[in-house]
Amino acid sequence: MEHFFYKENNLVAEGVPIATVAEQYGTPCFIYSRAALEEGYGAYREAFDDHSHLICYAVKANSNIAVLNVLAKLGAGFDIVSGGELARVVAAGGDPKKVTFSGLGKTTDEICMGLDADIHCFNVESEAELQRISDIAVGESKIAPVSIRVNPDVNAETHPYISTGLKENKFGISMEPAMQLYVKASKMRGIRITGIDFHIGSQLTNIKPILNALDRILTMNDQLVSKGITVDHVNIGGGLGVTYGDEKPPTPGELISTIKRKFSGIDLKIVIEPGRSIAANAGVLVTRVEYLKGHEGKNFAIVDGAMNDLIRPALYGAWQNIVPVKKTASIENLNYDVVGPICESADFLGKNRSLNIKPGDLLAVKSAGAYGFVMSSNYNSRLRAPELMISKSNIHLIREREVVPDLFRNEHLLPA
Ligand code: LLP
Repeated sequence: MEHFFYKENNLVAEGVPIATVAEQYGTPCFIYSRAALEEGYGAYREAFDDHSHLICYAVKANSNIAVLNVLAKLGAGFDIVSGGELARVVAAGGDPKKVTFSGLGKTTDEICMGLDADIHCFNVESEAELQRISDIAVGESKIAPVSIRVNPDVNAETHPYISTGLKENKFGISMEPAMQLYVKASKMRGIRITGIDFHIGSQLTNIKPILNALDRILTMNDQLVSKGITVDHVNIGGGLGVTYGDEKPPTPGELISTIKRKFSGIDLKIVIEPGRSIAANAGVLVTRVEYLKGHEGKNFAIVDGAMNDLIRPALYGAWQNIVPVKKTASIENLNYDVVGPICESADFLGKNRSLNIKPGDLLAVKSAGAYGFVMSSNYNSRLRAPELMISKSNIHLIREREVVPDLFRNEHLLPA
């Protein structure tokens, strides 16, 4: 169900007018729908039904503790990539025993944090990392649960910056060396092998590359079994795409039912790490038009949101829909580049958008619930935006807008 929709020409979130939220909290601001988040998680939960599984929401997609708390209350696990994310999960009431720790550069401190929290599994990306985890675990008289992230060398057919399953990518370990590492790991004192894992990329709109990767991984599992090495789960990573414009990705239900068929007769838990497909369409970025200007046949709408708030258009050339918060019929549509005030030509939220706007109007950038606020910065000494969550017609401030002293709170002048 769509939780951001028009009611009498006004964009609402779960029935609450976006304009009301913007008046109260100012712009730019991120607005999330709790119902949309719950539905995003629920789609996976229902699809798995009674097949043994663990849904680990990828915290990096949107790590606000209120977002994590909503998901924790539904029983979600979490996929983390840093000690900071682990701390967020704990602060949000998440269960560390349902945490997978991904990422290829885990520090000693982060490994200790994971061991102390008794997490579900470390997803290991190199021999050196495996050795470090084992050494730390032995030193603490613990045994670390580990899966090895295998790089299956499949083309995920997505933007090269978010493709991770090809040999040329820095992620995971190729199949052959991974087999050898499993054998080594099985003899390490601080290690308990619990899984195999892959993640081939993000914003995947075609199911085939995931299935190809899974076939390879399941073959590898057979080879492990023949060597006497058994795992209890296969982690298929995250990556399911969403509709930003005209993409037609499979639904979580379609993905999971296909995946489950691959596991028929195989007694392994399925772990999955979805981020975008739970959070992206549960949020919008609201921004106000400051000025309109034009030159040489080109029109610009200069808005108060910028690449520091939402970097996806600048970084990946990503297209996200930009819609008016109030639909009007009084002025004619023109094609605008919707740009921020930052001194970079890459500072745009959308190009060539047909809009009917005047200064002071509000615009909503859709699908901004994932990889939106989390990738924001203070570039140009801009204050980071607040985050609001709509829940049952109530507006909750879940992150305050930064204030000027925040900008240089941690900076120091040289001594006189
Ligand atoms: N698991 C691992 C190991 C990952 O690296 C990622 C995302 C996920 C799960 C979650 O993937 P998702 O379900 O969200 O596609 N900033 C980029 C996306 C980067 C994704 C990084 N890894 C963007 O805005 O498109």
